[in-house]
Amino acid sequence: MNIAIVGTGYVGLVTGTCFSEMGVDVTCVDINEAKIKALQSGVMPIYEPGLEDLVKKNVEAGRLHFTTDFTTCLDNVSVVFSAVGTPPEEDGSADLRYVLDVAHTVGRFINKYTLLVTKSTVPVGTAQKVKAAIQEELNKRGVAIPFDVASNPEFLKEGAAIKDFMAPDRVVVGVESEQAKKMMEKLYRPFTLNGYPILIMDVPSAEMTKYAANAMLATRISFMNDIANLCERIGANVDNVRKGMGADSRIGSRFLYAGCGYGGSCFPKDVKALLHTGIENGYHMRVIEAVESVNEEQKNIVFDKLSKAFNGDLKGKTIAMWGLSFKPETDDMREAPALVVIDKLLKAGAVVNVFDPIAMDETKRRIGDVVTYCKDMYEAVIDADAIALMTEWKQFRMPSWAIIRKAMKNYVVVDGRNIYDGEELKELGFIYSRIGQK
Ligand code: UDX
Repeated sequence: MNIAIVGTGYVGLVTGTCFSEMGVDVTCVDINEAKIKALQSGVMPIYEPGLEDLVKKNVEAGRLHFTTDFTTCLDNVSVVFSAVGTPPEEDGSADLRYVLDVAHTVGRFINKYTLLVTKSTVPVGTAQKVKAAIQEELNKRGVAIPFDVASNPEFLKEGAAIKDFMAPDRVVVGVESEQAKKMMEKLYRPFTLNGYPILIMDVPSAEMTKYAANAMLATRISFMNDIANLCERIGANVDNVRKGMGADSRIGSRFLYAGCGYGGSCFPKDVKALLHTGIENGYHMRVIEAVESVNEEQKNIVFDKLSKAFNGDLKGKTIAMWGLSFKPETDDMREAPALVVIDKLLKAGAVVNVFDPIAMDETKRRIGDVVTYCKDMYEAVIDADAIALMTEWKQFRMPSWAIIRKAMKNYVVVDGRNIYDGEELKELGFIYSRIGQK
């Protein structure tokens, strides 16, 4: 089977690479020439564990190709996956320009039956717009070439994307015809062989599933952050509460960690887009609205704790920030809580020393030299008044506290991810605070 994947961002690149690993002939298409050139010579545009090796291997095997020429490649493929971006508009709605561009190109250039599968996260109803765009182009050409549209949302987690694709909890596919259903089942057979389910449904339900799943996960986090903030005030410990709650099999123990707020490319964008879809359809999503506002507040929590530790005066204080990316194992800084905290610290007159194992370049690209970039976590604490732990990278989990205490000026530690043993730090002379415990 020959397929094309349009858009070599996170989703497109992982999807294309994993299909090629299973023996499918994949052409990844992007309008960005520099990106395609880099990929052809084995340079990845993103950091994702395992991706580079897999790309190289499949390029060498002749199953994975990169090109900027979408129209030529349409002659050789029967399925096109669209994995282009859907950046948020100012009002929170998704900008469908790129998704519809792909549809128009398909309509202009196909010469045989083609299945256009949307992988980008798009609002319910987008498949109908995609279909109309293809039909419009076919009408202009005066030809009647059969085609189908399908929806196949992705559920990849950054940092675990390859694993998630290869062994998915489920594959969700929305189709409108038996032919499309058969083609999608065939393509995903290698991934669902071991019992991972493929759920075939109608297109609007598939489109909605992605938003509902992400909104549910975001809800769990905001719910726990809300509980954590109350725990602090009444003298409970949210980590004990989490364990007690998670032991109920109806609740489950995963994704219940209180922290300094969720970030990334999906939750913030999808929650806003779902709210917007509600408004457009005359329905007020009250739970989702609260999920978002709790998260916006939560991104301030590390700053608030630092400020409290210095009686509201951070002027001239040096803060060592450990971790910048929105979560470990990625260099993605989109909506990262660290950016909010850095901004507030600088406005309060503090000096910020930062260290992140992977995301330093990306941070520099975004905010420039307003902070000091350090070569490791220990350099960041020299003469610092406080440490702010923002991302739970493994290398931050067991620091040499004795060395750190000697290097620091003041001994405040604010743990935004609840990874340290408070008792141990107190004994060593640190002033320690975490999320959800007094
Ligand atoms: C998410 C979804 O998990 C994935 O299915 C979807 O396809 C894309 O969005 P991702 O953005 O890669 O994936 O990150 P994820 O691992 O889900 O974490 C999102 C954010 O939530 C991070 O900032 C993380 O630190 C935070 N989080 C997660 C918590 O604060 N507490 C938790 O218990 C779990």
